[in-house]
Amino acid sequence: MSQAEIIPQPPVRRPALDPRFDTVFETRHLDLGGGATVAVDAEPAGHAALEKKLAKVRKKRNKLERVPLSKRLTAERADRHELYQLSVQSPEEDIAFLRKVYKGYRKKKARHFREDFSGTHLLARTWIQSGDGCTAEAYDFDPDPVAWGLHNNARSLGADAERLHLVLGDVRERSRKAPDVRCAQNFSYWCFHERAEMVGYFRSVYQDLADDGVFVCDLHGGGETQEEMEEEREIDAGFTYVWDQYRYHPIPGAAKNYIHFRFEDGSELYRAFEYGWRLWGLPEIRDCLLDAGFKKVDAYWEGTADDGETGNGIFSKAKRGEADLSWIAYLAAVK
Ligand SMILES: C[S@@+](CC[C@H](N)C(=O)[O-])C[C@H]1O[C@@H](n2cnc3c(N)ncnc32)[C@H](O)[C@@H]1O
Repeated sequence: MSQAEIIPQPPVRRPALDPRFDTVFETRHLDLGGGATVAVDAEPAGHAALEKKLAKVRKKRNKLERVPLSKRLTAERADRHELYQLSVQSPEEDIAFLRKVYKGYRKKKARHFREDFSGTHLLARTWIQSGDGCTAEAYDFDPDPVAWGLHNNARSLGADAERLHLVLGDVRERSRKAPDVRCAQNFSYWCFHERAEMVGYFRSVYQDLADDGVFVCDLHGGGETQEEMEEEREIDAGFTYVWDQYRYHPIPGAAKNYIHFRFEDGSELYRAFEYGWRLWGLPEIRDCLLDAGFKKVDAYWEGTADDGETGNGIFSKAKRGEADLSWIAYLAAVK
């Protein structure tokens, strides 16, 4: 990995509202091999942690990749980030949806994308693959998923990786370039429990978007989301994904959830991921977005499949929705 090139962050474009998130990062261009070089912004300690993690990921993956996935599906051998991506992410569908929403408002193609809470930056990678010359930024403060993503996602972009910019930092840091589309997926922004914190995050998004930018976040609800229960789902690759709604406390609206992975040999990757969320309601989130300055917030509700019961994965603008026990929706906020 090259550490040679250190470029100071470009001058401040707009002052941050919150001085806690006004970090002066160092930009390093990481050579991932295979012609892929990615710009990463972090503080010096962050770069050091990321480089250490990346060396570990490389070593582990080089070993793992000699064994086909089907033979790696045991608690001892499995790679939790790989299983996560296979279980809960649909990057092509998500990017097609985000592009459609933006085009619906602005009648043109979105060029610059920002993925918040980006983990392994799978969406940012897919955005770059989905459009000639399109660029993306991805923000996450944990070097563990970011290092995994560098080796397993960004590297596969080859020379196109130069259109990706990663920031090892808080989602409230301002963008390198004002995004046309910015998103927070898989309910990650529910890590903000207090209203003032949520509005503060949305205000930083509002301030940071391009003048005709659009922010999209997903959310879920329905009575079942407040139950303490486990739900299993078989994944085609040959393992079981378990969503564990472990605790819910109605007064603060706080939930503790886990993801476990179970394998055919009887082993289990127990609590592979952990979430401490406030379960927000759709009107609450819409009001927070409006309070943050957005002019208009639209809800996109999922259509029903032919079985009459499950969702069909197609989300359209809606005013009322239905009283499903468990639903997923999107909000699009425009400036
Ligand atoms: C559930 S993962 C999301 C992974 C993936 N992007 C997705 O949509 O499924 C949530 C990620 O948010 C990151 N995160 C949580 N709070 C954050 C914050 N304030 N700033 C930056 N990243 C944050 C965590 O490190 C974690 O990688």
